[in-house]
Amino acid sequence: MKIPNLHFLFLIFTAVFFIAQSSLIDDVSSPEKRLAFFIFGDSLFDPGNNNFINTTEDFRANFTPYGESFFKTPTGRFSDGRLVPDFVAEYANLPLIPAYLDPHNKRYIHGVNFASGGGGALVETHRGFAIDIETQLRYFKKVERSIRKKLGDWRAYNLFSNSVYLFSIGGNDYIVPFEGSPIFDKYTEREYVNMVIGNATAVLEEIYKKGGRKFAFVAVPPLGCLPHIRLVKKAGGHGSCWDEPSALVRLHNKLLPGALQKLADKLQGFKYTVGDTYTMLQNRIDNPSKYGFKEEKTACCGSGKFRGIYSCGGMRGVKEFELCENPNEYLFFDSYHPNERAYEQFAKLMWSGDSQVINPYSLKQFFQYASSQP
Ligand SMILES: *[C@@H]1O[C@H](CO)[C@@H](O)[C@H](O)[C@H]1NC(C)=O
Ligand SMILES: *[C@@H]1O[C@H](CO)[C@@H](O)[C@H](O)[C@H]1NC(C)=O
Repeated sequence: MKIPNLHFLFLIFTAVFFIAQSSLIDDVSSPEKRLAFFIFGDSLFDPGNNNFINTTEDFRANFTPYGESFFKTPTGRFSDGRLVPDFVAEYANLPLIPAYLDPHNKRYIHGVNFASGGGGALVETHRGFAIDIETQLRYFKKVERSIRKKLGDWRAYNLFSNSVYLFSIGGNDYIVPFEGSPIFDKYTEREYVNMVIGNATAVLEEIYKKGGRKFAFVAVPPLGCLPHIRLVKKAGGHGSCWDEPSALVRLHNKLLPGALQKLADKLQGFKYTVGDTYTMLQNRIDNPSKYGFKEEKTACCGSGKFRGIYSCGGMRGVKEFELCENPNEYLFFDSYHPNERAYEQFAKLMWSGDSQVINPYSLKQFFQYASSQP
């Protein structure tokens, strides 16, 4: 028997060892396990899409002091810093997900954000000033084609199956009736809510066809407590929340899970979860100090009572505005939108939260759960 065989065996052993190792590494980074993060909705999620559409400053936030707490420069986000999707991307070990319309961004491999300030589920909502959900879906289909071209059908379908789709939609649809839009008059509350939910969920079926399986929604927040709505409150109260818009939103939040469950019953592998941002925001309004806030009625930035006049930045017609020194202390950054700190709290809770916060899956479970193969 010749000794060199041992050497040969050793080589084989080493080779096998390395192949095993590299396939372990491969397992994590292989295209089949890859996922992306796609975001749809309104100003709560918009990272700057509206910077690139033909609209008015009412639907933009790409001027100071927006962005001052984190980015140090305005990005188009309607807050002093990061939004919920920015934090969720971070927790999921993804880079910041860019705005779809940003011309610098042509890499979609980690996902893309289609959300548009002022956008709604109904095309009538702020028509001509914001990107409605149906148009956002059209943009998604373009991205889908481009990814499919790059990865091939099977790998692209896999990517879309593993990806997470996050939605914030409805807030604008429920605000316009209280800002004088006549659309509401033709419908009962329930009809109107069903129409909003019908249009929002119609989009999901289309994404499902492209492979999408994991759909996360945030509930519409209590609109009647936004500083602007407190200001315009018709009932002549002294700055208490206006319950009528919030009641409409509560009906939406109550009916949405049922509509999603209907889709889950119909579409194999369809999974959904809903984060209760209504309760999260309401808890902070009812008990601000418990969550580290000093002011829950008045916005950090704006003018008039509660700084409810939407003048933050001085670019929307009204030049004068007030700005607080420490945005962290204010639950709302401007007349409509929470500050970064509140968003971070919401994102954290939904990432690892229990069924009180997000139901039936936490966002962490959603990102970790690998959708079954087609
Ligand atoms: C932008 O919108 C305004 C008003 O709706 C319109 O007059 C203008 O022509 C539009 N500009 C472009 C470039 O589409
Ligand atoms: C979508 O909204 C439109 C109004 O914009 C309405 O006519 C239509 O019935 C809605 N679709 C669904 C599926 O609810």
